[in-house]
Amino acid sequence: MSTDDLFTMAEQAGSDARSLAARSEELRRQIAHHDRLYYEKAKPEISDREYDALYRQLVDLERTHPELLAPDSPTQKVGGRPQGTFAQVSHLVPMQSLDNTYSEEEVADFVERLRRLLPGDEIPMTIEPKVDGVAIALLYENGRLTRAATRGDGTTGDEVTRNIRTIGVIPATLRGKAPRILEVRGEVYLPKETFARINAERDELGLPVFANPRNAAAGTLKQLDPNIVAERKLSAVFYGYGAVEPPSALPERMEEFFGQLKAWGLPVNPRHWTARDADGVMKAISELGEIRRGFPFETDGAVIKADLIAQHARLGSTSKAPRWAIAYKYEPEQAKTRLLDITVQVGRSGVLTPVAELEPVFVAGSTVSRATLHNEEEIARKDLRIGDRVLIEKAGDVIPAVVKVLAEERNGSEKVFHMPKHCPVCSAPVTREEGEVAVRCANPGCPAQVRRRIEYFAGRSSMDIAGLGEAVVSQLCDAGLLHDVAGLYELRAEQLLPLERMGEKSVENLLAAIAASKEQPLWRLLAALGIPHVGVTVARTLASSYGTIDRLAAASVEELCGVEEIGEIMANAIHGWFRDHDVITLLGKLRAAGLNFGERDAQSAAPAADGPLKGTIWVLTGTLSIPREEAAEMIRAKGGRVSGSVSAKTTYLLAGEEAGSKLDKAQKLGVKVLNEEEFRKLIEENHRDEGD
Ligand code: IVH
Repeated sequence: MSTDDLFTMAEQAGSDARSLAARSEELRRQIAHHDRLYYEKAKPEISDREYDALYRQLVDLERTHPELLAPDSPTQKVGGRPQGTFAQVSHLVPMQSLDNTYSEEEVADFVERLRRLLPGDEIPMTIEPKVDGVAIALLYENGRLTRAATRGDGTTGDEVTRNIRTIGVIPATLRGKAPRILEVRGEVYLPKETFARINAERDELGLPVFANPRNAAAGTLKQLDPNIVAERKLSAVFYGYGAVEPPSALPERMEEFFGQLKAWGLPVNPRHWTARDADGVMKAISELGEIRRGFPFETDGAVIKADLIAQHARLGSTSKAPRWAIAYKYEPEQAKTRLLDITVQVGRSGVLTPVAELEPVFVAGSTVSRATLHNEEEIARKDLRIGDRVLIEKAGDVIPAVVKVLAEERNGSEKVFHMPKHCPVCSAPVTREEGEVAVRCANPGCPAQVRRRIEYFAGRSSMDIAGLGEAVVSQLCDAGLLHDVAGLYELRAEQLLPLERMGEKSVENLLAAIAASKEQPLWRLLAALGIPHVGVTVARTLASSYGTIDRLAAASVEELCGVEEIGEIMANAIHGWFRDHDVITLLGKLRAAGLNFGERDAQSAAPAADGPLKGTIWVLTGTLSIPREEAAEMIRAKGGRVSGSVSAKTTYLLAGEEAGSKLDKAQKLGVKVLNEEEFRKLIEENHRDEGD
């Protein structure tokens, strides 16, 4: 590449950044304008669909370029945002909060108060985890989910039904007999593991990380695009009731109610306890304290409730919290230690991440010796210096994080840290794009980047090559045997055998696993290649829309934009990636090595030879409560064929929420349209017909 080319590229990047900023500004201005017309003047000039399209463009732009996110963006208004975004709904019964206690004495006081208020009564109690998520109220009418709302100010909240429907564990229809009206309450949460994965990915890409799973869950629920919500894999737990008609549908005890929730198909807390006095309550609290870190959600306490539901009404509530329940808060688990050093890691896309090297210390169940510091701004904001004593904790119980410096313990020998101007691994100069916090090593051939790309390629959600973890990748790179992912397919046994810990058997297994990966389906290869913005979900969509790498590589930006879930920015990035000289070379090598570029997927995507849906052609669109590929599998398993585009030959269109142009087209062509429930019925009926 000539210097001129480099200059043009740099110029291009600069002007791209400016035009993107201008574009997002323009979108915000337009949206605000249409909000005013709609809400204040009640004279909209554009259709809801056009409005949604504008909104989606902005969401898409901000999602891929978080640096463009303005605090006043209509996508960001927390709490009072509703306008033009989420409708406001009144809760049938206000959603209250809980009083907190922090000590054994206060728990005893609570039990004592219950006794005073209900003199002479037995007052059994339940104790359960306090889930640190986002409070949610679901309304089921005659067993069907009709509305979901966040707490908001307790009286009115955001109507987030469409987002809630993407959460797999929340049933659209209750099992068994359901009351006419049932409002259940619970918490939506981001599983700790998912939180850790998302943050690691964001760190690696230089995107801002979420402080804890609760923030991540709250931010996700506020997304206007249900596809993003579906991608994040939220979960939920239910523990309470709101309005219930007829009231006789409620059992006598909370204990039974938890069982009833479960019987309806709603997820509940994994454990609860019962007690009759303060000692019993404390015992349960300490048992919960022992096991709570094993739960998939973060807990910050225990909730103690009067077990007899009839007593709830008798005890009533104060203006903010019920008198029949209280939260006991566990001490946040933090520890003091020393910041021995700050090292710098180079990620797969070249992002440099500073890492705190800590004096090992035990906190929240394990020993911590390292913590990511994300970027230079973060270090400056916390005023961290090498040699400082620091307070650390685990964000979401899993990710070690430096909370703050203990400045009063300084002795003057602490050293200020500066991000290196050159990559610590390959010495190439580092670059920083305007407005971005991330600093990058600009050398795509940097050995650290190469290593990370290979690890990522082999990883569980990519090509899933068993035995090719971090340690082995390092070993192979250090031995000079591996320079890019294509090199994996050239490895020979005689090169591996002389290496340490490489016995005959392990070499055989490793080579077999690498060879087997050539047959992985296209979506795995697409997810493995590290195409910008392409994670597993998008990879699956691209694979099912285009079928082969060649067809995908040939797609124009306009065509890519037509694919659901893909906006302009992603389309441009994908299109550009396939035109990169190094990428073209790499793909050539992988093709020569015999990897499945999609041609061999026809087999797996082929319908079962026989089945009740034989001869039918399906198109899937919109947001479903299950991954689209899963629905496609259900169809194929019954002999149906799944196609990417609607035509006169299409038998059925399965349309989820937010279905767009495909739905229009199907209606024009008179194709039969099924919603998810009708689809399930059809599948189930055919299930029974098969007699299995
Ligand atoms: S019962 C009237 N049970 O914590 C409120 N709440 O800090 C009755 N929470 O507003 C709530 N886990 O959003 C209850 N097992 C649990 C809970 C729980 C989490 C939330 C809930 C509440 C907040 C108070």
